[in-house]
Amino acid sequence: MRFIGNKESLLDKIYLALEQKNVSGKTFFDFFSGTASVAKFFKRKGYSVTSCDFLYLSYCLQRAYIVNNSEPKFAQIIPEIAKAEKVLLESPLDIVLAYLNKLEPVSGFIYNNYSVGGTKDLKIPRMYLSDANAQKIDAIRIQIEKWKSKNLLTDDEYYILLACLIESVGLFANISGVYAAFNKKWDPRALKPFIIKPIDLVFNKSKNMAFNVDSLTLLENINTDILYLDPPYNARQYAPNYHLLETIAKYDNPVIHGITGIRGYEHQKSSFCNKKTALQDLDRIASSAKYKYLILSYSSEGIMSEKDIKSVLSKYGNVEVVRLKYPRYNSHINKKNTKKQYVSELLYILKT
Ligand SMILES: C[S@@+](CC[C@H](N)C(=O)[O-])C[C@H]1O[C@@H](n2cnc3c(N)ncnc32)[C@H](O)[C@@H]1O
Repeated sequence: MRFIGNKESLLDKIYLALEQKNVSGKTFFDFFSGTASVAKFFKRKGYSVTSCDFLYLSYCLQRAYIVNNSEPKFAQIIPEIAKAEKVLLESPLDIVLAYLNKLEPVSGFIYNNYSVGGTKDLKIPRMYLSDANAQKIDAIRIQIEKWKSKNLLTDDEYYILLACLIESVGLFANISGVYAAFNKKWDPRALKPFIIKPIDLVFNKSKNMAFNVDSLTLLENINTDILYLDPPYNARQYAPNYHLLETIAKYDNPVIHGITGIRGYEHQKSSFCNKKTALQDLDRIASSAKYKYLILSYSSEGIMSEKDIKSVLSKYGNVEVVRLKYPRYNSHINKKNTKKQYVSELLYILKT
């Protein structure tokens, strides 16, 4: 999934660095989970994982990838759907997605606010999604909620379907990386007919948990072997950059405003987007949580300097820094300047 700071491409390097520094354990806490890619990786490695993020779209991904620990059966809806489908698909998830992909289009909140047809009366119509794709997304999202309200889905099944939808929308959105703006011309990707695709589920033998709150509110209750921190590293807040995915995930008819139809995000502002409060809260985390190892992933271009981070963390134990080369996030690449396509990701390893 395209998400600022997604660590997917760095996971092997991070794991290797931790192995080399003898960092290991049984429990892993992903404090700023985002796409849940790090939590998923450590779940696969057999850790009992807990994850948290204040974005609800992230919570849906965490519930599907981290908390769910079995193949969904969709026992309450498959009998009806299978009749309608008259097909023998491989898995229950495939059968449900095939059904969702054939729904009649609906002009709902997403069509009315984020497609050109639905916003044609605005001074600048919103070009986030083609009319047909927005109507398909509405139809799918409404159907998932209908099943849920009739108690035909388990919680795990509900979040798996939402995660499939969230992951799929990005493949058809007319944006260059984030949802803070839409493209003024159609990207060919956005003109392809929308389909909801399956996600790859991950299972392990441990109990895993997810939270959808400000992670700092959990501090007093954290007791983990590895506490992994991957906070925002500059002034850009996440909520406005992913507002459309958040609204599709919540489907709560929010009040929206401005050219991009952004929803409010008062309760989703990160203290890590400001240098002073970032350092204060890094200190709070390091002092209040219980852990054997605190690992901070942080860009060399972040607003907290290496010196300041070290001086905060070293109050609590021994700190080592590993430098990893990291491809710069796509939407920032200055294509003419090849030197700038890589930045360093610093891995701060605090051992207590
Ligand atoms: C750099 S991203 C994490 C990326 C993630 N490691 C991945 O691989 O996808 C930072 C995340 O922290 C979340 N965040 C920032 N401040 C937070 C807070 N105080 N509580 C919970 N989540 C927060 C943001 O919503 C965002 O998803």
